[in-house]
Amino acid sequence: MRFARELGFGELAAREVALSVSELVSNVLKYARSGQMTLQRVSGARAGMQVIVEDDGPGIADPQAAVADGYTQGRLHTGADAAWPRSSLGLGLGAVKRLTDSMLIENRPEGGTKIVICKWLPPTSSGAAQR
Ligand SMILES: Nc1ncnc2c1ncn2[C@@H]1O[C@H](COP(=O)(O)OP(=O)(O)O)[C@@H](O)[C@H]1O
Ligand SMILES: [Mg+2]
Repeated sequence: MRFARELGFGELAAREVALSVSELVSNVLKYARSGQMTLQRVSGARAGMQVIVEDDGPGIADPQAAVADGYTQGRLHTGADAAWPRSSLGLGLGAVKRLTDSMLIENRPEGGTKIVICKWLPPTSSGAAQR
């Protein structure tokens, strides 16, 4: 959050970044044994922030499906679904997708998952802090 604020993100956008990162990190804790997070400033025409969260876990079999709300542990659950696991809502990746401007999910060649998210600063802002 502090990093996002330093880059010029407003309070709300910085909280959105923090929530996204915590969802991704919680998945690493849930599904993998170890992982790492990298925060990067993106400069140039499109300025903003990039966060990479990768791990050495089992990877995500169907990354596109996994972003759907209600998709958890290998299948999509709906409201009336009695088999919905109590431990997981399956809303994490969908929320991250909505809270960020781009999201890339990859299975690493060496195994594990790599997720790259970007959030852009508003075009008018040249690093000046906003509300
Ligand atoms: N880092 C990861 N490694 C392996 N599988 C993952 C990882 N992150 C997410 N998944 C898979 O994608 C599904 C959806 O993730 P998410 O939306 O965060 O829901 P939840 O964590 O509540 O199940 C998970 O249930 C899991 O099967
Ligand atoms: Mg999750």
